[in-house]
Amino acid sequence: MSQTPHNTPLFGDTQEQLEILIEGVAYQVPADLELLRCFQYLGFDIAFERFCWNASCENCEARVAPPNGPPDRTLCCQRICEPGLQVLSLPEGVKVKAVP
Ligand code: FES
Repeated sequence: MSQTPHNTPLFGDTQEQLEILIEGVAYQVPADLELLRCFQYLGFDIAFERFCWNASCENCEARVAPPNGPPDRTLCCQRICEPGLQVLSLPEGVKVKAVP
């Protein structure tokens, strides 16, 4: 049985970054990361007990606008970020990190 090394990066390879907009503000996030994990990466306040992280609860649903498409609703735990993606409204239980 193989084991995951303890030094595996939490967000994978963060070398490649891309820009997304969250409620009108630009953020750099690692490529190929699900939106909910992007929020975690950015240090947003997340009510972790609300989210299953596996497409069952639908509590992570948010309004998004892809770069070349109409606004839509998506599950943030499943949607992989893409350059220029706009998150129009965060799901309940996720708040932008407060600036001290
Ligand atoms: S966190 Fe439960 S469906 Fe996304």
